[in-house]
Amino acid sequence: MNFISVLKAEKESEAFNKIHSVSWEEKHQVTDNFSILKRKQFFEDIDDVEAFNLIYFDAFGARVQPELWTEAIFTKMYNALKPNGILVTYSAKGSVRRAMIAVGFAVERLPGPPGKREMLRAIKK
Ligand SMILES: C[S@@+](CC[C@H](N)C(=O)[O-])C[C@H]1O[C@@H](n2cnc3c(N)ncnc32)[C@H](O)[C@@H]1O
Repeated sequence: MNFISVLKAEKESEAFNKIHSVSWEEKHQVTDNFSILKRKQFFEDIDDVEAFNLIYFDAFGARVQPELWTEAIFTKMYNALKPNGILVTYSAKGSVRRAMIAVGFAVERLPGPPGKREMLRAIKK
């Protein structure tokens, strides 16, 4: 996908290309204030504890991969977030929202991206 041209972000093309070409499983400094560590890992195997401020959960939808929208997976994300950490997803399904609440998140609906009426933001309390 040609994000650089669509977003008219030509001056960011070097950083953009670097993000996509650097090797997995090791940390890379992309700009002075941005580094990345790409981990090739199943969600089911994630066991980080209080490691992240923010999770963008961009899994295929619950209709296609229901096993990724369960309390078990949201518990992993809850544990992986720091206190007050945020999990966002384009999904706004009631069952997803209820699973997030069941594992301890405070959940709010937000206006969705283009083409989606709503999305969810879950905060670790
Ligand atoms: C909608 S795509 C997200 C693409 C991603 N945002 C990107 O820009 O490359 C969903 C991704 O989830 C990955 N996936 C599917 N099952 C998974 C699992 N059990 N654990 C981790 N990733 C999984 C798929 O391979 C796919 O790359």
